[in-house]
Amino acid sequence: MSKPAILSTGPMMPLMVEALEAAFEVHWMHKLPDVDKTLAEVGPRIEAICTGAHTGVKTDRGLISRFPRLKIIGNYGVGYDSIDLPEAGRRGVTVTNTPDVLTEEVADTTIGLLLNTVRELSKAEAWMRAGQWAATAGEYRFTESLRDRSVGMIGYGRIGKAVGRRLDAFGVPLSYFGRKPQKDVSMPFYDDLVAMAEDVDTLIAILPGGPATEKLVNADVLAALGPRGIFINMARGSVVDDAALKAALRSGTILAAGLDVFVGEPNIDADLLTIPNLTVLPHVGSGSVYTRSKMGQLVVDNLLAYKERKRPLTPVPETPFKGW
Ligand code: 8YV
Repeated sequence: MSKPAILSTGPMMPLMVEALEAAFEVHWMHKLPDVDKTLAEVGPRIEAICTGAHTGVKTDRGLISRFPRLKIIGNYGVGYDSIDLPEAGRRGVTVTNTPDVLTEEVADTTIGLLLNTVRELSKAEAWMRAGQWAATAGEYRFTESLRDRSVGMIGYGRIGKAVGRRLDAFGVPLSYFGRKPQKDVSMPFYDDLVAMAEDVDTLIAILPGGPATEKLVNADVLAALGPRGIFINMARGSVVDDAALKAALRSGTILAAGLDVFVGEPNIDADLLTIPNLTVLPHVGSGSVYTRSKMGQLVVDNLLAYKERKRPLTPVPETPFKGW
């Protein structure tokens, strides 16, 4: 029996490469000398796409429309804002993602980024490595603290709740913003982000990217957060208005920010990196061997489910499984 053809929009981790090559005829987009030529040739046979936010390739209408036999898009990541869902839905393509397996890891990293931003851990390390401790025989300057802060969660889904559990253990009061209040969540709820920003001094964004949340964190929200304000973004670069954030950091409208995600990553706005009261991470939220292996395996299992004509494990709600 011939293997079904799959397109991977970028490189994948070794366990995925091995499993995909064993089961499929894989076309690695980043290795194609002439993408258009190859896709014109193999496009009619492609039944599956393997993709992820890190590949930098948008699985948009233009790409999807080249594959008339496409049945499944397996996304390596919980967020799938780089995939044109309405188009996938119209064509009866099932999109799968990797929920749950990364929840605790991303929550751990969120706490790390929050503490690093508040307590300036990486700056203190750089100060020590530069010989400043010995040279000044003094102490690193006293920093902000999490002790007297209250946090507003922008988004309170699975990962938001895992962050919430951790902050609860830290004794930090929490509020959350969303479209509607959630049953069984007793903390203060806001459907107005400016109003929440006025009432807290720390915001953590952990919600899906895409058009519905684009530039949700804008100049008004940052002004409401105020001069003690700290903004942490673990969601997508698109959820914040970058120009407004840069201006707010430079003018002291807010105190500091910590970002794990960026517009156009990995080619980010170089001007951002010149801002001293900004802590950055190169999108490492889920990036441990342990968690990435679980994510990779889940992508493979979803794609193999298609090959074996079984139910996919984790279809996204926008493209419910209706049979192959
Ligand atoms: C991954 C992520 O880095 O799950 C997500 O949505 O942003 C991260 O866990 C990314 O998906 C890798 O492509």
